[in-house]
Amino acid sequence: MTLRLRKYFLLHFRPKTVPESTLALTLSWGLGGLAAVLVLLQMGTGLLLKFAYEPTPQGAYASIQYLIADVPFGRLVRNLHHWGANLLVGVVVLHLLRVCFTGAFHAPRRLNWVIGLGLLTTVLLSNFTGYLLPWDQLAYWAVTVSTGMLEYIPGFGPVMQQWIRGGPEIGAMTLRLFFAVHTALVPLLFAVLMGFHFWRVRRAGGLVIPRKADEWRGDPESGEPAPGPARERVPAVPHLIVREAAMAAVGVAAVLLLAVAVDAPLEGPANPGLSPNPTKAPWYFAGFQELLLHVHPTVAVFIVPVMATLALAALPFWRYQADPGGIWFISRSGRRSALAAALSGALAAILWIAVDHGLASYSAATGRFSSVGLPLLLLAAFAAAGWGSFGKRGTGLNNEGVQVAFVFAAAGFAVMTVTGAVFRGEGMALGWPW
Ligand code: HEM
Repeated sequence: MTLRLRKYFLLHFRPKTVPESTLALTLSWGLGGLAAVLVLLQMGTGLLLKFAYEPTPQGAYASIQYLIADVPFGRLVRNLHHWGANLLVGVVVLHLLRVCFTGAFHAPRRLNWVIGLGLLTTVLLSNFTGYLLPWDQLAYWAVTVSTGMLEYIPGFGPVMQQWIRGGPEIGAMTLRLFFAVHTALVPLLFAVLMGFHFWRVRRAGGLVIPRKADEWRGDPESGEPAPGPARERVPAVPHLIVREAAMAAVGVAAVLLLAVAVDAPLEGPANPGLSPNPTKAPWYFAGFQELLLHVHPTVAVFIVPVMATLALAALPFWRYQADPGGIWFISRSGRRSALAAALSGALAAILWIAVDHGLASYSAATGRFSSVGLPLLLLAAFAAAGWGSFGKRGTGLNNEGVQVAFVFAAAGFAVMTVTGAVFRGEGMALGWPW
């Protein structure tokens, strides 16, 4: 029985041997494994927190105070859960970027990219639903602002908002709903999606095999096709397992260090009558909140998120001209164009935020121009400059064009997120954080 279980179930997840070249740290940076360790840590610490937490508006805040002050190691467990959750968002985004930039989303890994997007959504859902649970001012108003944004979704936005809040206002029903999603639905989603994700990695024969830059080209002089990637295999035990254990130790040590050094925030108890200034969304939604300050709300909370999700989901299904899987940034010129796109995306976002800041306060007409015409103008200018230099120096592959568009948008959104989270103060005015 145990033998059968090993053979038919466990071995689907744990290969006996792995291609030696995929063990290189510079391929995966251990980020997927680190994300898995953090998810397990969240489940362990979350289980412990459940013994002390009370999911009612009357009892939630007091139960957190009791946990911090009176329960042995209660503060540490809460800090671990808080920092683990925040690190998880960062690690999963970095894992997505590494998968994207090593071209590990081409067939046979296309479905796994989509499962990964499901995991990213689950990570955001778990963070967002957990945010409300302490029922302090920070939690109450961050969730009020975030769910308030839903109003701008045309048609079903208000219904969706009521549905997520469990009524017209944030209250006991919202807390009960968020608690149920956070402690029952999220772990279930993680278990199912992670199982599926790991099994697909196994089905694809392990990680994408690393190759040198430009290896997809073959030899331009002799016309020889590109050599197949090296596939020598080594036993997973000890080679893979030792590396996974080392990465797990690094992850746990990082969270432990943060948890010992910095306490998870806890402000005064939730007060629906007194909104703090500024009222900010959690940092991972700060980019959308920033966008909301510059464009029509429907664009910020509906059109941009829907288009971004569709573009991400479609990424592996484009008709690409080459499969540079295993090569960081496709080629040497791909590296240069990605760097140029990152700098251009960041610069375009900074210019837009700064100019819009001035124009919007000048008059209604300049405000309209700066929220519609200006971003379109900036986009057109950067696209024209990019097209010119790409035509001259790029590989000419559409892979590189898609990569440039992705990097440009990601860098722009990263600047929006940092601006919203760090450089917005009282009345959401721009300013230094110190
Ligand atoms: C909780 C979230 C996630 C966990 C726990 C996780 C875990 C893992 C692990 C352990 C691996 C193999 C080792 C590695 O690449 O480091 C992997 C590979 C992969 N992941 Fe994820 N992942 C998550 C989210 C994502 C996301 C957001 C995406 C992309 C949208 C994604 C797409 C992939 C793909 C395509 C592979 C195969 C890569 C290759 O063959 O080189 N994953 N993931």
